[in-house]
Parts: sequence; structure tokens; C-alpha cells
Amino acid sequence: MKITWLGHAAFLLEGSMKVLIDPFLTGNPNAPVKPEDVEADYIVVTHGHGDHLGDAVEIAKKNEAPVVCIHELSRILAKKDVEAVGMNMGGTLRTGSIAVTMVPAWHSADVEDEQGNIISAGMSAGVIVSMDGVRVYHTGDTDVFLDMQLIGELHKPDVMLVPIGDYYTMGIAGAVKALELVRPKVAIPMHYNTFPLIEKDPEDFRKAVKAKGLNVEVVILNPGESYEFSR
Ligand code: NI
Ligand code: MN
Repeated sequence: MKITWLGHAAFLLEGSMKVLIDPFLTGNPNAPVKPEDVEADYIVVTHGHGDHLGDAVEIAKKNEAPVVCIHELSRILAKKDVEAVGMNMGGTLRTGSIAVTMVPAWHSADVEDEQGNIISAGMSAGVIVSMDGVRVYHTGDTDVFLDMQLIGELHKPDVMLVPIGDYYTMGIAGAVKALELVRPKVAIPMHYNTFPLIEKDPEDFRKAVKAKGLNVEVVILNPGESYEFSR
């Protein structure tokens, strides 16, 4: 599976299908591509915040790609003329050659409706995307929580996409603890250096993982760069 970081929490997973997660491109100073240049079979959105929902509606329409998200957000998106697939914690959507499992995250979520009202968008989630025998855990925005150990045991992710930016999510120390609980083979840091509030040096994360003696390879990508995981 080819994993491309599109900056912030946006990733494109490419194998026998193309799965786009949290496509915040417009307004993302580090976005390496424009929404009109992204191709996807499925779009997965972890929660309704603008830096995750991003350009999902526009990309979904252009690609005729369904948007997979928490039930409440799917009801909001369905009104915007996209195919929204609502699901909930612990559930798995199996379609084509992919499976998307929704897991908890400790965070919040809202969206702005057409009239400018702020409305609740259901819970915030993490997702595990399985494709071609590879499992990728995108934690969404979250603090570290002890149940990540269960997520690791049940879903055995190969690759974990983990926020390190602090302030809106866990920071480096929390992310290291999260790796200890989940025990993926590879970790790719995300949700940092997009805005001044979340400036972090990913090398500090790598050093902290090493200092803890964890058997996890930290892969640091620049926006637009890809990593190929094969088992
Ligand atoms: Ni958020
Ligand atoms: Mn966020």
C-alpha cells in the first residue's frame, strides 16, 4: 500500500482502491495538491472539524465517491448532495477490496451549516482502513487513551498515523505512549506544523520513540511524500 501525506491529517491510501482520509487542502498552507487533482474511490472523514472535513464534499462530488463518517455527520453531508455512509464505533464497512472500521477518539466535533450556524456533528472518531492485507490506523484528532491497547489487540494495525502537534490533540509524549499501547510496525506523525499553535519537530518524536525502546519504525514524511508499506 502506498501512503501519501497531503499535509495536516490528510492521507491518500493507494492499493487496489484509492482511499482519501480527512482531505483538508483548501486553506491548508502545506497542501501539496489541489482538491480538483485528487482521485479517490472512497473518502473517510474522522470528524466534522474544518481541518478534517475540508474539501470532502467537493472531492466526493467530482469523483462520485461516497463519504464514510459517523452517523450524525453523514446526515449533515447527505443534505449537501453527496453519498454519505454513516456508521458508528466498533462497526466495519466492507466494500470492494477495503474495510473501514470506526474506533473511538477523545475529541469533539462541530460543523457550520449554510446559514452560518454552528451545529453538533456527532462524535469524533478514529478509523482503521484495511486494504490488500495492510491495516492503517488513522487515530483522528485525539488524546491518548488506555483503550488504544484494545484497538491494537483487536485490529493489529501495521501503520499508525498519529498526531503529535499538541494543543488540539496529544503531543509528542502522548503519541509515544499511544504507540506503546497500539504497537504498530510503523508510525507516521501528523497534525503538526500546519499552524503556529501546533509547531513541532518530528525528529523529537522519533528520538522519544527510540528512547522508550519501542520496536516501531517512525517514518517522517513531507507533505506530498509517500511511503510504501508491504508485508
Ligand atoms: Ni478536530
Ligand atoms: Mn484537527
